[in-house]
Amino acid sequence: MILANKEKVNILSIETSCDETALSFVTASGGLKKPTFVVHGDVVASQIKLHQPFGGVVPALAKRAHIEHLPLLFKEIVDGGMRPEELDFITVTVGPGLEPALWTGIEFAKQLAEQYNKPLIGTNHLEGHLYSILVSKEKPDPKKIFPAIALIVSGGHTLLLQMDDLTHFKKIGETVDDAVGEAFDKVARMIDLPYPGGPEIERLAKEGNPMAINFPRPMVGHKNYNFSFSGLKTSVLYYLRDSAKAKKDIVKADIAASFQRAVSDVLIKKTLRAVEEFDAKSIMISGGVSANRTLRAEFAASIEKRFPIKKDRPELLVSEFSTDNALMIAASGYMDYLRGKEYKIEADGNLNL
Ligand SMILES: Nc1ncnc2c1ncn2[C@@H]1O[C@H](COP(=O)(O)OP(=O)(O)OP(=O)(O)O)[C@@H](O)[C@H]1O
Ligand SMILES: [Mg+2]
Repeated sequence: MILANKEKVNILSIETSCDETALSFVTASGGLKKPTFVVHGDVVASQIKLHQPFGGVVPALAKRAHIEHLPLLFKEIVDGGMRPEELDFITVTVGPGLEPALWTGIEFAKQLAEQYNKPLIGTNHLEGHLYSILVSKEKPDPKKIFPAIALIVSGGHTLLLQMDDLTHFKKIGETVDDAVGEAFDKVARMIDLPYPGGPEIERLAKEGNPMAINFPRPMVGHKNYNFSFSGLKTSVLYYLRDSAKAKKDIVKADIAASFQRAVSDVLIKKTLRAVEEFDAKSIMISGGVSANRTLRAEFAASIEKRFPIKKDRPELLVSEFSTDNALMIAASGYMDYLRGKEYKIEADGNLNL
């Protein structure tokens, strides 16, 4: 166990859970009361172009690219001024994600930890998304934002959490089938948009009418906080098939806009219901799909409508670092350090919260 006894710690973080190789070097201070991060280095090597021809991430290619990029990114961080001797610890994502990809980061981190004789902290990628809010420019004040509702919407996960404070939280809902990002990617493929589909759908949706097609809002009326996106995805498929049969014109922009609206309706309705039930003072949104500006704007508008009086209105905190990056891993590694949480230093593709 690494004792959290220093006011300021220098952290090197490493992320390789999917198709981004990322490293960051930060100084963290302030503890759980006021976690503060000074960023000295933050680098990402994206593999989007590598996987694009295959329409999705190919694990063996991802592994090879991580192995190639890790030493180059490390050199970039060192050239940017990091002296490995000054590190207090190294933190690395151990899951969830693609295991062959996760192992590359873990092995690299282990080597560095040994070479420079530094402690190594394994951390959870999902907590990384959650804590990415802490490294955003608009730093939330932990004294004012709890209880909170957190929504994590990424390529592999859709989670709703109720948080009492930074480190005490409970999962209240999750997807029972596809993740939101996965649904975006699959629907994009149906209308011939390249991988990753989320940003492409968002772009095309700007030219379409979100009311054109009435796609279902799965589980929106259910009392629980779970989500389902597989049926919505299938209804897009049926719409395409039926339109082709009937020789009806297909307006892809309308499909993109209507699909996106159906997704945001469900996410917003469930999140706001949780806000009311748990009397939340803030809503934190993170994960790749939270990069979607239309979703952010609809969230903001719905919050205003539902809470017309400003003092009753929960604060909307959207992560600036939505898609995979290493700053969020530094933040979750710091949280692990502070609370003495230890994950096994081995890849766990299915690690959950
Ligand atoms: N602007 C956007 N609109 C909608 N979806 C988006 C947007 N930008 C990215 N995405 C989606 O976000 C997902 C990638 O997010 P992220 O990097 O957080 O996921 P991941 O790391 O693959 O999965 P996980 O974090 O669950 O392990 C992809 O499915 C992508 O299509
Ligand atoms: Mg992710």
